[in-house]
Amino acid sequence: MAVGSLADAPKDLLSEIKHLEELFTIDTAKLKEISSHFEIELEKGLSVEGGTIPMNPTWVMSYPTGHETGTYLALDMGGTNLRVCQVTLTEQKSGFDIIQSKYRMPEELKTGDAEELWEYIADCLMQFIETYYGDSTKLDKIPLGFTFSYPATQNYIDEGILQRWTKGFDIAGVEGHNVVPMFQAALARRGVPIKLSALINDTTGTLVASGYTDPKMRIGCIFGTGCNAAYMEDCGSIPKLAYMNLPPDTPMAINCEWGAFDNEHKVLPMTPYDIIIDKDSPRPGQQAFEKMIAGLYLGEIFRQIMVDLYDNNEAHIFAGQDISKLRKPYSLDSSFLSAIEEDPFENLSETLGLFQDKLNISPNLPELELIRRICELIGTRAARLSACGVAAISRKKGYQSCHVGADGTVFNKYPHFKARVAAALCEILDWPDKTDPKEEDPIEILAAEDGSGVGAALIAALTLQRVKDGNM
Ligand code: GLC
Repeated sequence: MAVGSLADAPKDLLSEIKHLEELFTIDTAKLKEISSHFEIELEKGLSVEGGTIPMNPTWVMSYPTGHETGTYLALDMGGTNLRVCQVTLTEQKSGFDIIQSKYRMPEELKTGDAEELWEYIADCLMQFIETYYGDSTKLDKIPLGFTFSYPATQNYIDEGILQRWTKGFDIAGVEGHNVVPMFQAALARRGVPIKLSALINDTTGTLVASGYTDPKMRIGCIFGTGCNAAYMEDCGSIPKLAYMNLPPDTPMAINCEWGAFDNEHKVLPMTPYDIIIDKDSPRPGQQAFEKMIAGLYLGEIFRQIMVDLYDNNEAHIFAGQDISKLRKPYSLDSSFLSAIEEDPFENLSETLGLFQDKLNISPNLPELELIRRICELIGTRAARLSACGVAAISRKKGYQSCHVGADGTVFNKYPHFKARVAAALCEILDWPDKTDPKEEDPIEILAAEDGSGVGAALIAALTLQRVKDGNM
């Protein structure tokens, strides 16, 4: 049987697939509707009244020139790892050297105590400094760019009042507070010789890092554990900043926090599985868009479907097998789905192996084909929805042709993701057919430079330069 045809599968299984296809497929008309609504929400987020998408001003107010120099530290507190980097911006145009260490973010920290979080971060930084700089007591304070990838209100670039935790984090006593003093207090207790110069979002870092090497970059996106974008706005188009009286053509990077798009459920075609995931999450009602797209949730959507098919349908999948491992929430991550979509074999033998090893389940061939099809549906929906956000920013800014820098595990590792986003962008923006398939798309999404490392260092450099120039 050919992969994906499911031609000879039992009838009840076929009808399940048809049903799932209806639930998960988003046609061109719906993509356009979502993207138009997205554009309105981007605008609302910039207004004084605000909207659902936070549209946070970041105080990153220029692209780098490519001539920045100096050595900076960068700390990246993403969703999965903690990374410390030393970035040297070299004399060579757009050049940099980077040394880095990764520390696994212990799962229990994400829902633990604020104090423990800051202490852990300070310990990692101290360890890094002792490894690469030696005796920390003899050092002058090193400038640091802190990539804190959660929605934060910033009145200054070295401030970040956490609006809410996202990506499964749930640490009491941080929401509504400026995280910088908490972080600095932990550094001071350990005598870590660091001066925080800028607090940034990973998307802004991505935008700036990619702009450092590619002048066509206009949007920075993360498709990883979470999902979000940043772009450069003119201050004159940000009514909520009008009180600052900044010249209207001053650029200001906006961290959209688009994961919150459609929290009020006006346009997104949510399935019963999305509704369960939202209900069981630490923050129900929030990050509606992100929960349908981001790496943290793709495996869980798949797991929910499989458990539902086992419990509640006529297809009787995995008959007589013990599915207790599959019942564990969040036990499958997006790499599980990636591996299934990548399985090159007609008989899906790698998928079978994965199911046996990880879940102790041995699906038969029609079940394996069902599994593959479900992964395709989830991965394709995520990519197509992502395109709605990119199209909305491009339309809002009138970009006919530009580059979008993207990073994150879903973008870099999920098979076909890039091609699926590109196809959906083409549908939404009505691009004419290409004469040469190798030709660039008008809006091309490319792998970004390292935003949370190089981007954070560049933003620290730009900030220090601005302070020096007296332009704060
Ligand atoms: C979540 C965070 C956002 C971040 C994104 C990607 O959406 O709220 O700040 O940019 O994940 O990491």
